[in-house]
This record gives sequence, structure tokens and C-alpha cells, in this order.
Amino acid sequence: MRLLVLNGPNLQLLGLREPEIYGRKTLSDLESEITEYCKRREIEVDCYQSNHEGDLVDRIGAAYGVYDGIILNPAAYTHTSIAIADAVKGVSIPTVEVHLSDVDSREEFRKISFVRPNCIKTISGKGFAGYLEAVDVLAAYQ
Ligand code: DQA
Repeated sequence: MRLLVLNGPNLQLLGLREPEIYGRKTLSDLESEITEYCKRREIEVDCYQSNHEGDLVDRIGAAYGVYDGIILNPAAYTHTSIAIADAVKGVSIPTVEVHLSDVDSREEFRKISFVRPNCIKTISGKGFAGYLEAVDVLAAYQ
């Protein structure tokens, strides 16, 4: 089984960015935790972060036939991007939407998610643990 973890804009700033919301650990910490968790389960995983909507669309499109599941935190593009939502629907790869923070208990605009209807599950407000839960969800879904 091979998974793709995609993190969207500003998540390269983890550790520095609003630590009271996103915590003090870095993106590199997150990717190491996911990689280690997958390794123990004999799951192959690739992690990628981009600040660019089209880049994320390209990565999702290129995932077809390569990955069995996608863990996607589109960050701010969650609330704006029909292109990312269409890409997820287009490739039909089981995808779990993950947010570090509880997007439903923050500003009104964060309650809107264009990708959500195209994902098998949404996990939000669980910090790094949400990504590990997403690995388990995708492993169980195969
Ligand atoms: C986020 C929540 C989004 O609303 C925000 O724009 C982010 C991160 C999260 O992981 O909690 O950049 O996706």
C-alpha cells in the first residue's frame, strides 16, 4: 500500500505560525511522525507540501495509478478551491481530509470545505494525531 500526504499553503510554517492553534512542532516533525508510523505498518508513504494551488492539483492528478490513498490538508485552499476538489473527485483515489485545528469551531469561512464531499472522511482538531488516524482509515478502507 502506498499513500500520498499533501499539505497545502503555509503549513511549511508549522512551529512558527500561530502556535496556540497549530502547535510548536514543525512540518518536518509531522512528516517524520507519519513516515515512522507508516514504516511500522509496512505502508509506503510520500509527503509533499506546496503553497501553490495548481501544484497541488498536479500532484493529485499524477497520483492516479501510483497511490492507493491520499491524506490531504488543503489548508486555506479547503475553503476556496474547486480545482482541488475536482482533482480529488477526478482521480477517484480514496482521500481523507485532515485539519490540525477544529475548523468547524473557528471562523464561519472555515466551515466551508469544497473537498469534503469528495473525501471518504474528514478528521479535524486532532493535531498531528489526525494524520496518523487518516493512515489507519485508509489502511482499513483498502
Ligand atoms: C488548516 C485550517 C485552515 O482553515 C487553515 O487555513 C490552515 C490550516 C488546519 O490544518 O487546521 O492553513 O487546514
